Amino acid sequence: MSDSTAGAVLVCDRLTKRYGDRLAVDGLSFAIRPGERYGLLGPNGAGKTTTISMVCGVLRPDDGTVLVDGQPAAEARGTIGYVPQDVAVFPDLTARENLAFFGRLLGLRGTALRRRTDEVLETVELADRATDFVVKFSGGLQRRLNIAIGLLAQPRLLVLDEPTVGLDPQARNGILEAIERLAAEGVATLYTTHHIDEAARLCTRLGIVDHGRLIAEGSPAELVAGGGSGQRLRVAVGHHSDALVDGCRALPAVVDVVAVDGHLDLTVDEAPAATAGVLALAERLGVPVTDLELRRPDLETVFLGLTGRALRD
Ligand SMILES: Nc1ncnc2c1ncn2[C@@H]1O[C@H](COP(=O)(O)OP(=O)(O)O)[C@@H](O)[C@H]1O
Ligand SMILES: [Mg+2]
Repeated sequence: MSDSTAGAVLVCDRLTKRYGDRLAVDGLSFAIRPGERYGLLGPNGAGKTTTISMVCGVLRPDDGTVLVDGQPAAEARGTIGYVPQDVAVFPDLTARENLAFFGRLLGLRGTALRRRTDEVLETVELADRATDFVVKFSGGLQRRLNIAIGLLAQPRLLVLDEPTVGLDPQARNGILEAIERLAAEGVATLYTTHHIDEAARLCTRLGIVDHGRLIAEGSPAELVAGGGSGQRLRVAVGHHSDALVDGCRALPAVVDVVAVDGHLDLTVDEAPAATAGVLALAERLGVPVTDLELRRPDLETVFLGLTGRALRD
């Protein structure tokens, strides 16, 4: 193993998984150190869930290895807390009763169980709802309870699969804050998302995944800086025109063009020349331009440049 994996809680080396003919995860390697908040960012179907299922020992890789604290994943149970995408709690029990049930499965009893239950309720800010029945919880509260369950064993690595999907902004925020508190305690987190804004806010390091491959990795700032110096010009058009796309591509000030529903995203060297060129071209082709927006590179434009696709819900 290289120096970059020294001291890592998790080392994935060339993980590979096929479902029949479909290569879902294709030689994926990454490592996570204590206290890091590592995000796998990618569109639906990119292979995120399959990857973390292998990390957590739920799925066996066809090829490659997972080391947790230097041990094969199968021998490292207890080191990893796994919070699956689907909430797995008992609705007819209270929050505390749920935690007691899962805590007993881990061998916790008596005072130790009560103390740990109190701690995890505190971490996810559910202490004031401890004796409420879970059936009455909103989606966000149920997710937080799910995270609390994943924390019972005091894992060094917490793995969360799209923990904010389907939640309103306030509930999402509650989840993100819980993850931030955990990281401050030194717990490493691996989480998957297809929300760019969330990844940008939460993650100290990101792996961008597409078609089962890690196509870029770094802190959000590094990824944006590495995305090239070009500015992004977004041109909203009245209708799609292949001739306009091809014509834009041929303009000297334009580096790249991606057509996404209803607009063109251009990477440009020289914004004024590119803008003038695009407008003249659209006019000549009879394509109405309904909006123009010049943006500095951000994670979204980087993602677009890497994958040629926008990330949407
Ligand atoms: N149990 C399965 N059987 C067959 N194909 C699957 C199965 N699970 C996932 N896939 C396929 O593998 C690819 C990766 O899926 P997944 O890991 O769930 O991606 P993500 O979590 O990024 O949305 C997708 O093309 C998906 O359709
Ligand atoms: Mg998934």
